[in-house]
Amino acid sequence: MSLDNTQSIVEDSPITSELIQKYEKLFTLTPEKMRSIVDAFVETLKRGLEQYGQVVPMIPAFVFGWPTGEETGDYLALDLGGTNLRVCLVTLSGGGKFDIKQKKYRLTEEQKQMEGSLLFDFCADSLSAFLESAQAEGTIKAGAELPMGFTFSYPCQQDRIDHGILIRWTKGFGNPNVEGFDVTQLFADSLKKHNVPVSLTALVNDTTGALIASHYTNPRTRIGVILGTGCNAAYAERVGNIPKMKDLGIPDDTLMSINCEWGAFDSFEHKHLPRTKYDEIIDLTSNKPHEQAFEKCISGRYLGEIFRLVMKELIDEGVIFLGKDTSKLNEEYCFDTAYLSTMESDMTPELLTIVSVFSQHYKIETTLAERQFFKALANLIGTRSARLASCGMAAIVKKLDILDEGCSIGIDGSLYDMYPGFKERIHEGLTDIFGEKGKNVVTHHAEDGSGLGSAIIAAMTKTRKDKGFFTNL
Ligand code: BGC
Repeated sequence: MSLDNTQSIVEDSPITSELIQKYEKLFTLTPEKMRSIVDAFVETLKRGLEQYGQVVPMIPAFVFGWPTGEETGDYLALDLGGTNLRVCLVTLSGGGKFDIKQKKYRLTEEQKQMEGSLLFDFCADSLSAFLESAQAEGTIKAGAELPMGFTFSYPCQQDRIDHGILIRWTKGFGNPNVEGFDVTQLFADSLKKHNVPVSLTALVNDTTGALIASHYTNPRTRIGVILGTGCNAAYAERVGNIPKMKDLGIPDDTLMSINCEWGAFDSFEHKHLPRTKYDEIIDLTSNKPHEQAFEKCISGRYLGEIFRLVMKELIDEGVIFLGKDTSKLNEEYCFDTAYLSTMESDMTPELLTIVSVFSQHYKIETTLAERQFFKALANLIGTRSARLASCGMAAIVKKLDILDEGCSIGIDGSLYDMYPGFKERIHEGLTDIFGEKGKNVVTHHAEDGSGLGSAIIAAMTKTRKDKGFFTNL
């Protein structure tokens, strides 16, 4: 753990170098450990392709091949992610050109728990309002029934493109009566109730959307990753390498997008990830104990809470905030992951941004030693997250056997886009795993998978069905 500011201040405080080393040890991933995680990960990916019902389900997304760039037309995309509901009108003009008009609604905590049908009613309502205003502006014709991609970023078992049974909620959602049901049917029921004229063409995971949208603009893309509130990856696999699909009669050489749902890696068994007691607390106090083990160590929903749990421990041990009222830190998930990124960006000698994080949001005055420690702790938690994410990416690269030829990974999400140094840490992780060859794997900001990607997939699906290719899938 490196402390940027004067060492003497640290030595005078209860934050001793032994204490710092303790956290360093807990959160540091050695290259050796990373390589063993990658090996276990590759095996897990293969198991998911072999059989249905595996912990990492490797879900065939029924998106065949790559976009050509020549897809055209107007499409709707509705994106129910971890934080927002977004409605988009996407115009594809061919030649890789597109235009997006969108509206975003922040989801409240209450909406994430209310009766499932009410959540879908809210989606239908928002879509209806969006369509009305687009019609009033003349961007779409009244009465036109546009094809829609529904980006639903939770694990759904699919047996065709416009159908998907929710396996489990993730990212803190818990709406009753959705798990085990076909979400496209639930949504169609709400659309009917609200008289919304759309035809649901494709159910899309955000990672599949990111993969396809990124390939549309950068054909070297082989993997799409989301590192935001949740985390996950998708890639294209030859059908011949997906034993569980062999009865569908799809030619072996056909490429099929796979939504890995890698957030579930090491769930239940907890054999491979070096989980700390903070990870265990998060897991056991979550609405989904034992699930999403990998995601809980990596994604934006959890990093701030890991940080808060370390602070709580140090408050209880009398190491930090001595004699201060720390009651505002008692509430679960009250420490936003964005603060870790703010703290890591603070380059002032006195760490003044960190001063204001604590004084403004929690009414706590901090010492410089505490702030130095917090900055270093944020770095440890953020670095572990990036390095674990690189283990997942390395596993897919290894599974596809494309390390020598190299590839690009399209990544979207707040951690990749906003967290200082996250991208560099991923790349350092890849070279720790693969040596110099790790540099053959590059990353780039993914195109908007949930909007553009979803629309392109709706277009690809329409074309495929018009051409009579697997019209029942
Ligand atoms: C979900 C995935 C999703 C990821 C990123 C995870 O919690 O299970 O379906 O792709 O979050 O949004």
